[in-house]
Amino acid sequence: MAHFTKATSVHDWLNQRLAVDTLRRVLATEYWIPKNINFLWAMGMILAVTFGMLLISGIFLLMYYKPDTKLAFDSVNYTIMSQVGYGWLWRHIHGVAASVVFLIIYIHMFTGIYYGSYKKGRELIWLSGMLLFVSFSAEAFSGYMLPWGQMSYWAGMVITNLFSMGSLNFNGLVEWIRGDYVPGDAFLTRFFMLHVLLMPLIIIGLIVFHFGTLRIPHVNNQDGEEIDFDAEAQKYLSGNTKESKIIRFQWDFLSKDIMVLGFFFIFFFYLVFYHFEFAMDPVNFDPADGLKTPTHIYPEWYFLWSYEILRPFSKNIGLIWFAFAQVIFFTLPFLDRSPNAVAANRRGVFKYWFWALLVVMIGLSVLGKLPPVGVWTKVGTVFAWSFIALWFSLPFVTKMEKPVGGK
Ligand code: HEM
Repeated sequence: MAHFTKATSVHDWLNQRLAVDTLRRVLATEYWIPKNINFLWAMGMILAVTFGMLLISGIFLLMYYKPDTKLAFDSVNYTIMSQVGYGWLWRHIHGVAASVVFLIIYIHMFTGIYYGSYKKGRELIWLSGMLLFVSFSAEAFSGYMLPWGQMSYWAGMVITNLFSMGSLNFNGLVEWIRGDYVPGDAFLTRFFMLHVLLMPLIIIGLIVFHFGTLRIPHVNNQDGEEIDFDAEAQKYLSGNTKESKIIRFQWDFLSKDIMVLGFFFIFFFYLVFYHFEFAMDPVNFDPADGLKTPTHIYPEWYFLWSYEILRPFSKNIGLIWFAFAQVIFFTLPFLDRSPNAVAANRRGVFKYWFWALLVVMIGLSVLGKLPPVGVWTKVGTVFAWSFIALWFSLPFVTKMEKPVGGK
């Protein structure tokens, strides 16, 4: 057993038992961050904080929500919104955070793609990030079922129908997932369980894993420079902080993160107080009705691009390309054949590839919201094929790229 002495303070008492000083040094004060990064590197922290807000606001909502098809709609739209003090505020915070978290996830992902931060030992950061993306999608979808409005019901119907696998007619699988022939009580309670317990647990585990994958390769930097972190740490610790290329995570980098977080909060609470409706579909303010199909069923904005890849094709082909869109981002570190982990503007054809992907995904999202009629179906088909073609071309585009030295 270790040797314990009489503690001189609470800190000393804890330190002898938990090595809190070592922990703080490894995780914070001697966790090194490159100097040459910009505000886009604060997105990860904003995501962690937004997830925290979702958890806290969710706990308050959970105190009054009723997972029962006869009570759910009123428990949200009547009890929480008008009977409980500040219930509306927690609901708006939860709804806006659920939407904004995807905006930040997309910025975070595209920052990673732009700077090639999924390469050279950073593959696991990317893969764990993608698992987080999928988990957040499942979390958002299951949460969307809970108010039991028209869109909850019909989006639940459409998405679970996908599991029939087109002409393979796996109807048994669809019924097994729903626990019934159509979405009903069993469906609502199992999505409730997923939303408030299983998915949050998985997300917390994945966030810890994502942070763990960052520890050894460290974050990338704007110049794609391969920094010798041990040598730079020596410089920093010997007092040569100006010449060192790195800073401490706590409080050097954290103070910058907190400033960006401040700007984010202004934007976030502006939405919560003045524009919360953008995160809430008006159709979902009608109670679920299995006999009345809404004229136009569409998902939340963050799923529109993949929904639009499903729509223009026949049932079976659409399903194949939809599945392709769900998994293809996982393969990015392996499809990109170039050794250059630098900003896209310093790379060959990849810089056009990057902007083309962004434009195509925004285009698909806009089209996904429009009814699939007339010319929009044709435009949607062109965009869907462009998305697919971009991914197929990636290995060839990057294989031809000449090596670019980091600055
Ligand atoms: C949703 C929860 C997520 C949280 C809380 C989170 C958190 C973080 C944090 C704190 C960092 C370090 C600082 C920074 O670069 O921002 C980071 C880096 C990174 N994350 Fe995430 N992340 C999440 C999701 C994702 C997703 C969906 C992806 C993409 C698939 C991703 C890919 C990356 C990559 C590639 C890096 C390394 C950036 C670099 O080396 O410069 N993350 N993440």
